[in-house]
Amino acid sequence: MTEAEQRRPVTAPMVLARKGGQKLRMITAYDAPTARIADRAGADIILVGDSLANVVLGHEDTLAVTVDVMVHHTAAVARAKPKALIVGDMPWLSYHTSIADTVENAGRFIREGGASSVKLEGGRKRIPMISAVLDAEIPVMGHIGLTPQSVHSMGGYRVQGKEAQAAYEMISDAQALADTGVFAIVLEGVPDVVAEIVTREIHVPTIGIGAGINCDGQVLVFHDVTGLGAGEYLPKFVRQYADLADDAVTAIEAFFDDVESGAFPAEAETYHMTAESEEILRNLSTASDDLMADEAMEN
Ligand code: KIV
Repeated sequence: MTEAEQRRPVTAPMVLARKGGQKLRMITAYDAPTARIADRAGADIILVGDSLANVVLGHEDTLAVTVDVMVHHTAAVARAKPKALIVGDMPWLSYHTSIADTVENAGRFIREGGASSVKLEGGRKRIPMISAVLDAEIPVMGHIGLTPQSVHSMGGYRVQGKEAQAAYEMISDAQALADTGVFAIVLEGVPDVVAEIVTREIHVPTIGIGAGINCDGQVLVFHDVTGLGAGEYLPKFVRQYADLADDAVTAIEAFFDDVESGAFPAEAETYHMTAESEEILRNLSTASDDLMADEAMEN
């Protein structure tokens, strides 16, 4: 049994209990292989992020993905049966129109996607939606600061809370979300001091992305950490630990070289039939060649 298989499945209450303790390790995944890799690496939380839109589906922003698409990918992650907690990211417009739609959509991540929790972006104005999802017994992760679904209203992807008043509002948002019952809050693109104060003031773990060192955990996007993004723009807060895109190009080039030279496939990569079956087949084939030659002569 691998180390990942021996671990207990991570639950939302277990994440909550990590407040101020061992740092939480969170990463995105979008399908079964990336989920298996994240789990083998010891992720506590796998976020099926709506960054799927940019990272995997090639869109300019996250606004393009729907609940159907997100649930499809969440289900692929769940089929890898990770021990990490699966968080399904609710996409734009899936929790903005009505409370009933919000609960319905959140439920799809659980029932069809196999997630154990959902994440949604925004501060105090989302509290009615968050309360309703919590009432449906679905754990919710908050997300404040630079919220990519607000790209147009923010006027671009900008660090949030740089002014004291805006930072103070964000701290109040975090407090309100924590009091409502979220089990953790992602803090994205905020000055480190704001994250430090939020982390100190609230009783639920903060998970930073571009929010400095003082959070209860950190999250990054799978393709950014591993270099699978193949030259896509990387924000300042990303640390890339490998260059899997380069490794993949090298591997595929070697395959093509072997195809061209005839070095692939080798004996070990080839199927055979028994000598007896081969002989019968060759005789059949010779007989049919002879028959065809006779017919050609007659015509
Ligand atoms: O969609 C995503 O990947 C996210 C993380 C950046 C937190 O929301």
